[in-house]
Amino acid sequence: MKNIYIPEPVVIENIIKETPDVKTFTLRLKSREERNGFKFYPGQFIEVSVFGYGEIPVSISSNPDNRENFDITVRAVGYVSNALYLKKEGDEIGIRGPFGNHFPFEEIKEDNILIIGGGIGLAPLRSLILYLLNRKEKSGRCIILYGAKTPEDRLYKRQLSAWREDPAVEFLETVDKADNGWKGNVGVVTTLLSRVKIDPGKTWAFICGPPVMIKSTVNELLRMGLKEEKVIFTLERYMKCGIGKCGHCAIGNKYVCIDGPVFNCKELGNTVPHAIT
Ligand SMILES: Cc1cc2nc3c(=O)[nH]c(=O)nc-3n(C[C@H](O)[C@H](O)[C@H](O)COP(=O)(O)OP(=O)(O)OC[C@H]3O[C@@H](n4cnc5c(N)ncnc54)[C@H](O)[C@@H]3O)c2cc1C
Ligand code: FES
Repeated sequence: MKNIYIPEPVVIENIIKETPDVKTFTLRLKSREERNGFKFYPGQFIEVSVFGYGEIPVSISSNPDNRENFDITVRAVGYVSNALYLKKEGDEIGIRGPFGNHFPFEEIKEDNILIIGGGIGLAPLRSLILYLLNRKEKSGRCIILYGAKTPEDRLYKRQLSAWREDPAVEFLETVDKADNGWKGNVGVVTTLLSRVKIDPGKTWAFICGPPVMIKSTVNELLRMGLKEEKVIFTLERYMKCGIGKCGHCAIGNKYVCIDGPVFNCKELGNTVPHAIT
């Protein structure tokens, strides 16, 4: 980016309505020079400006190997996200970034990958999954567990079907509350852990979802014997600058915007229980 404080204009190329309150936006940087220089890794986020409303941090949800455009998946929860939700294809918004660290995929080597997503937490994990599946020959098993509130709240429905059919992936999903058409699992996402056989010494877990889901999943994985440094999760905090200047996102001596948003249990140590809020 020419100036990390000034949003770069992007055009909304495509919009997919995922659930009643979540949309995926495909964005394309207007400047070819910026497009050529835009490189991100799974787990990173951008600051999205809806002009006249404000700026919010949002994870990038697409495959980093695609350099022409990229996706964000956003739930309309408040002032800025609702304004974004009402945007149409062809409209212009702004972005700063990419910011933050990324999932430590370089360290996995031949170990197994266990990806656990809850609700909209699947957004950054989708970027990781697509990136890893492009390099599948290099790692061990790829297990994906996904939980949503209801069948209607499941994100990326076509993508979920593709993962279910993919022989390279072991995919299981569940909903908290079924409807008449749902034939699958019912229960919170941690109940799926008892359905997969995991070698705890050789498994990396990547978790993203609401705080209560992260907490219970982390506890369960540590109880199963996964190493603290291999239990990886993302944290959310209110952010302003996104680049370590304003202090809004501090947890103890760490800033979520530059030291995170991706953390492992070992580095947060005793602060894990109250960091996940
Ligand atoms: C690193 C990072 C990545 C994120 N990635 C995504 C993503 O991929 N998709 C997505 O939909 N959202 C994501 N978020 C959350 C998103 O930034 C907030 O939903 C957004 O800032 C809300 O702003 P608003 O103006 O729409 O809501 P406001 O009007 O500010 O608030 C509306 C409600 O949302 C709550 N809220 C606001 N911000 C947050 C927050 N950061 N965490 C939890 N609750 C909040 C408020 O308490 C209030 O109840 C991410 C946040 C961070 C820090
Ligand atoms: S958002 Fe400003 S320091 Fe992290």
